Amino acid sequence: MLDLPIRMRRNRQSESIRNLVRETRLHPHDFVYPLFIKEGESGSDPIASLSGQSRHTVSSAVEVCKRAWDAGIQGVALFPAVPESKKNAKATEGLNPNNLVCQSLVAIKNAVPGLTVITDIALDPYSSDGHDGIVRDGKILNDETVDVLAQMAVLHAQYGADVVAPSDMMDGRIGAIRSALDKQSYTDTLILSYAAKYASSLYGPFRDALNSQPKSGNKKSYQMDPANTREAIKEVELDIEEGADIVMVKPGGFYLDIIRDIRQSFTVPVAAYQVSGEYAMIHHPSHTPDQCKDILLESLLALKRAGSDIIFTYGALEIVTAL
Ligand code: PBG
Repeated sequence: MLDLPIRMRRNRQSESIRNLVRETRLHPHDFVYPLFIKEGESGSDPIASLSGQSRHTVSSAVEVCKRAWDAGIQGVALFPAVPESKKNAKATEGLNPNNLVCQSLVAIKNAVPGLTVITDIALDPYSSDGHDGIVRDGKILNDETVDVLAQMAVLHAQYGADVVAPSDMMDGRIGAIRSALDKQSYTDTLILSYAAKYASSLYGPFRDALNSQPKSGNKKSYQMDPANTREAIKEVELDIEEGADIVMVKPGGFYLDIIRDIRQSFTVPVAAYQVSGEYAMIHHPSHTPDQCKDILLESLLALKRAGSDIIFTYGALEIVTAL
């Protein structure tokens, strides 16, 4: 061996060399843009805790979808802000064929047919209890909830959803949804399972946006304990066995080890959700706009480097214009 230092910096000396040796690249096709939708025609209203994000009317959501598609984004995920007057203990508005999600599906698929539209399957936007499942005597009922989730998935498929994304963490819901879809001949509808969804404290701004905070208790009896890894592997294994086409880890940024483990253990595509609390931290008021952009980029690179194939982020639109 020559007695010379190994010069790692040689590969970092210019922008063009750095561009050539970069190991991970972000591309507009990596991202799914989550959209909040509200009733009425009164224009979009900004969400205070989610800088730059708004609740959209169906027609302004269509405009955003067109912009996203033109910028190269391939998927959006819809979340309805349901008026309190339409929420009840059984979340029946979730099965109303004229609800906000069904109306949005029709409008978006008409205007931007190529865009993949993903709908959330869970009861919380419609539940007066603010839980993802039906509550009785303080308990979240598993099997009763799964029945409703399967009906909701069929309804969304009927109205044009390309992908249904169960985010509820009930046991057995993926199998129940797959068989309900297949029975109605929706064999092409994908299931993106929120397979490893943690009982995180990072969902606050999202729950503000939908006014969907649990009215009593918390979600720890169905969402996972942030301390657990092996349990995440088991959740993913079960969801794949039951028919999940894509599995998700949520939140993303605090769970890069889980993303990596799942990427290495399974062959299905892995999605990560950069959730509302993560996005809010990136957009902290002490950061300048340029810093926000740089932190967002760094956070998304981290998710991709860890092994995410798909990244849900509220920053999708701002990042693709910056790439
Ligand atoms: C609910 C749902 C939540 C999110 C997506 N779907 C919140 C929750 O589980 O309470 C959170 C997303 C975010 O914080 O950005 N089914």
